[in-house]
Amino acid sequence: MSIAKLRSTAKKVLNKAYSPYSKVRVGAALELKNGKIVTGCNVENASYGGTICAERVAIVKAVSEGNTQFKRIFIMSNMKTAFPPCGFCRQVLAEFGDPKMQVIYENLKGESHQYTLEELLPYSFNKAHLNK
Ligand code: THU
Repeated sequence: MSIAKLRSTAKKVLNKAYSPYSKVRVGAALELKNGKIVTGCNVENASYGGTICAERVAIVKAVSEGNTQFKRIFIMSNMKTAFPPCGFCRQVLAEFGDPKMQVIYENLKGESHQYTLEELLPYSFNKAHLNK
């Protein structure tokens, strides 16, 4: 899977964002180890706390389809400063992604960042602490 393909997929799904409150659009393209891409966009709610980020939408879609092997995730946002994954999303990524999983986030103007999951969430609490 090329990075260009992941980028164009994330850019396309950003247009599906349901964000009447913040107007922020975020698209996520989650690449699985089997080569498939699962997409997600942010889905807001009138009860603001019910909002779900694009990353977690992609993750729960993948898991509900039986896919828990993640290779990397590409996140595109329409803001002046590219959006990194929030703390909740980092924690949910850490449930499935290995520490070296690549997390790439950009905005439409081409600002680009790339980190490993462990760089974004060092010393994470995870299943190892539950002896799982
Ligand atoms: N948002 C995401 O989709 N991903 C993130 O990691 C950060 C925030 C969304 C949630 C909400 O719809 C909007 O951006 C503003 O917080």
